[in-house]
Amino acid sequence: MANTRMVTPHNTELDRGESGLRPTRLEDYIGQDAVKANLAVFIEAARRRGEPLDHVLLSGPPGLGKTTLATIIAREMGSSIHITSGPAIERPGDLAGILTNLQPGDVLFIDEIHRLSRAVEEVLYPGMEDFCLDIVLDKGPAARSIRLPLNPFTLVGATTRVGAVTAPLRDRFGVINRLEFYTPEQLKQIITRSAAILGIAIDEPGAMEIARRSRGTPRIANRLLRRIRDFAEIEGQGKIDLAVARHALNRLEVDCIGLDSSDRRLLATIVEKFGGGPVGVDTLAAAISEEVTTIEDVYEPYLLQLGFIKRTPRGRVVTPAAYKHLGIGVHQGDLWEAENCE
Ligand SMILES: Nc1ncnc2c1ncn2[C@@H]1O[C@H](COP(=O)(O)OP(=O)(O)O)[C@@H](O)[C@H]1O
Ligand SMILES: [Mg+2]
Repeated sequence: MANTRMVTPHNTELDRGESGLRPTRLEDYIGQDAVKANLAVFIEAARRRGEPLDHVLLSGPPGLGKTTLATIIAREMGSSIHITSGPAIERPGDLAGILTNLQPGDVLFIDEIHRLSRAVEEVLYPGMEDFCLDIVLDKGPAARSIRLPLNPFTLVGATTRVGAVTAPLRDRFGVINRLEFYTPEQLKQIITRSAAILGIAIDEPGAMEIARRSRGTPRIANRLLRRIRDFAEIEGQGKIDLAVARHALNRLEVDCIGLDSSDRRLLATIVEKFGGGPVGVDTLAAAISEEVTTIEDVYEPYLLQLGFIKRTPRGRVVTPAAYKHLGIGVHQGDLWEAENCE
């Protein structure tokens, strides 16, 4: 089950207590400097004009801080946030109900916005564009529509697949931002901040070690930190240093660059069953008994980022860098102790 992996970027039962680690102000939001700088300007400009901020679309892999940023935007605007998601809004009437309840300047956050149904999207367009609701009365030849005004609001949409957001919806966002994977240095700052909040002592090499294994993803960094804290408290001296971090991460079976057994299985499958690729994603999904979307949203972003796989028109290909890291070909054994890990 992908969702219980130590390194899954999705929010899982492993992340209870995550909200306490969430930064609440823009200045505490680490990294994503370009996005932050632009948003700071747009927020300040909107505030000075006394208008709601333009609608904002945030895209990027799970766990990079989209929901966090949405709550920060609301807070910086001094407004309330209403949180929902694409799949949760089943019918047009559900969205109409949400929109009519918004107070002036409120932020409506729609997670997984690419999963809105077409019919619901149609209701959203006039809402976003003109702050109004078109209501169709009667059916058939007697049908007519009336426009209901809404309070002006800011829509913040989040998506892991910006390519799946329809063009008409995308075009209605004034601000479109893509979040990038974090550098180890930035993750180290996040880990250090989180450790202070959790009240666990950590030194710089310990924080850096966790950072390197966190797949560029703050959610994973925080999750690993909480588990390592357990090791430090039970088996160590209550402090996270390099030795404790390494010991704990090896026990958690997260290798030196953040890969776990599922990643290795995926790569090894392409190598062993498909000669290193190219292999179509559907075939690959069947071979490892995973959903195509899990492969595309959970496994691939980080493997692509590492340059361990490539997407080609004919399918996925494993690169020499992956062979080298995994010792595939040499094969078997405790692969995360492969030489180039140290
Ligand atoms: N820029 C950041 N600085 C500090 N912590 C962050 C940052 N981005 C994310 N986090 C942490 O990672 C966790 C996951 O972020 P979240 O906003 O839920 O990701 P997403 O919505 O993109 O899946 C948050 O609870 C927060 O603690
Ligand atoms: Mg989220």
